[in-house]
This record gives sequence, structure tokens and C-alpha cells, in this order.
Amino acid sequence: EKSGYEHFMLKEIHEQPKVIKDTINSVLTDENISFESVGLSDEDMKNIQQVYIVACGSAYHVGMVAQYVIEELTSLSVRVELASEFRYRQMKLAKNSLAIIISQSGETADSLAALRLCKDKGVRTLGIVNVVGSSIAREADNVFYTLAGPEISVATTKAYSCQLVAAYLLAMQFAKARGEISDERFAQLVEEINTIPEKIEKILEDKERLQWFASKVVNIKDAFFIGRGIDYAVGMEGSLKLKEISYIHSEAYAAGELKHGPISLIEDGTVVFSVVTQSALYEKTISNMVEVKSRGAKLFGLTTYGNYAMEDVADFTVYTPRIDNLFAASLSVVPLQLLSYYVSVGKGYDVDKPRNLAKSVTVE
Ligand code: F6R
Repeated sequence: EKSGYEHFMLKEIHEQPKVIKDTINSVLTDENISFESVGLSDEDMKNIQQVYIVACGSAYHVGMVAQYVIEELTSLSVRVELASEFRYRQMKLAKNSLAIIISQSGETADSLAALRLCKDKGVRTLGIVNVVGSSIAREADNVFYTLAGPEISVATTKAYSCQLVAAYLLAMQFAKARGEISDERFAQLVEEINTIPEKIEKILEDKERLQWFASKVVNIKDAFFIGRGIDYAVGMEGSLKLKEISYIHSEAYAAGELKHGPISLIEDGTVVFSVVTQSALYEKTISNMVEVKSRGAKLFGLTTYGNYAMEDVADFTVYTPRIDNLFAASLSVVPLQLLSYYVSVGKGYDVDKPRNLAKSVTVE
């Protein structure tokens, strides 16, 4: 069932264009997004004032991206919380709020507990879930199903990508229902979101380059990922992917935090992966790259076509197609998925079944 691919992870990486398209098409027709199937009306969206996003692991990283996108497009206040922390805090949940629980399996114990806590406190819950009929899907007030299909590899790729587009679509419709976006901007975002699948295809065509680069870093002991805004969230995901399947110690930092401590870890030859797609923050992150380079770091730069100045500072540069800044995570995550895949293969590890990890974490 690996359809000719050596591992499920690689197969699932390649399925992304199709499953993203399916997920988009489940709520978007022509120029209109409808959450009727989800059970969220425009009126509901107008009345919500506060959004909590609660999840674990990669799904939490989707929440981080979602926060930036919702904040950019709407007047909503958004908090992103790790389910394992959220469930034991004494948070005062605002009235008129919506709790979004993101989970591929729909069975993650902490996420389920967080959902129940929200319901007990009278907060409306929306699950972004992949597995039909799972506990979170059954118990949430509303469900937006991602259409990633069965994900076998323990390290998530296609479910993460579907969760991202689900979050974009929600943000877009929130903005529209609340009258906070112009028709032109909305139409532009509809056009852009539809380009994600073909742009991922483009990135996948270039995978040999990443394979080559991966062969150069298989033996590193530590890795760092830096970025700002959405790029920071992608760095978190890239770092998790790398550590979970290649067992390389890896940390992700908000680039601006470097000089508050982490920069002391940089020495000659330390590999730093820099995600730099957000135009407003481009110069800021580049200057952080220069800082670590002057301390001996080897730099992997991930940016969009056109930002060729990256080559002046990075030792190895990967370009992704241009896309609206809000959707950049959908493209920049793909080279990082491929990179961790090839590093794991290069080390001879069991890519689809990394040690100590389970696909569905049903105990806390
Ligand atoms: C990482 C990964 C995990 C999951 C996390 C949440 O590749 O797969 O971090 O994202 O365990 O799982 P779900 O989405 O099933 O709640």
C-alpha cells in the first residue's frame, strides 16, 4: 500500500497536493466558503470575540500559524495553548468564545480533556479532526474534517498540511462574516489558497536537492531553527520533524530571542536552519543570520523565489514559490519534511515508526 514509495512518510508527503485540494474543496466553491457542513453560521462567527486554539505537537504548531493568520485578518483575540498545560490551568475563559481543538487522530488524551473542560465551562467547541467518528469529533459541538485520509507514518505531514488550510479557510470566513475583509482581498486569498497544491508539486520536483543537502547533515549532533512570525511556527515544526525521526537534538527559536540566551550555543559548524518568507520580517531575520554566521554557524536558508540576497549570507539556499505571506507555511514546511525524511533514511532509521513514539497518544 506504499504505492511504490519506500516509506509511508514519503508517500504521504507526495499526497499533500491532492488532500489539500480535497480539504479546500470541501468548504470552498467558486468564490464562496460555506461552513454549513461544519455547523458554523456567519451569525455565529460574528458573535464570537475570543478564540482559544488547543492542541499537541504538530497540531499545536498549526495553531501557532492559525493565530497569526486569524489576527491578521480579523479583530478576534486568539490564544494558542498546549492541551497538556491548558487542562491544568485555571484559565478564565471568556464568554462568546470558541475553542478550536486541532487533532489528526481525534483521540489525543490531553486534547480530549481540554475539549471536555471547555464544554464544562460552557465554551463552544470546534474540532479540526482527521479521523471520522473519533472521540474529539464525536464530542465537539462542531467538526471541520480534514480530508487527509489515513495517515500511517507516525510523523505527521499530510494531516498537518490539511489542518493548515482548514485554519486559513476558517480565518478567511471569520473575516468575511464579520465584515472585516474587502471583497478584493477575499477574492485574492481564494485565488492564492487554490495555488497551494500546484506549488507544493513544484517543490516536490526538486527533492533531489534536499536529498543531497540531507546527506551533508546526517552526522550533525545539534540543529537550530530560527524564524519570526509564521516562519517561527514553521521552524518549530521543522525542528520537531527532524528530532522525532532522525534523533538529532534540535531546537527552534524565535529569531529575536537568540540574543537572550540561545546564541551562546552557537559554535564553529553549528547548523542553523533559517525560515525567511515573511516580507515584513525579512531584514530582521537576515540580520540574526548574520549574527550567528559571524560565530561560525553553517546556514541553511529557506526563502521564496526573488529573495536572492539570501545567498549572500546562507551556505545553502532553498527557494519556495511565491505565495501570499499568510499561506507561506504550507510551502516552507515541505522542504523541511523532506529534509528530515532524508536524514532519517540516511541514518538507516525506521522512518515510519520512530522509537518511543505512538501515532495516537491516548494516555497523558
Ligand atoms: C508529530 C506528531 C505529533 C502529533 C501530536 C498530536 O509528527 O505527529 O506531534 O501532532 O501527537 O496528535 P493528534 O493530531 O492526533 O492530536
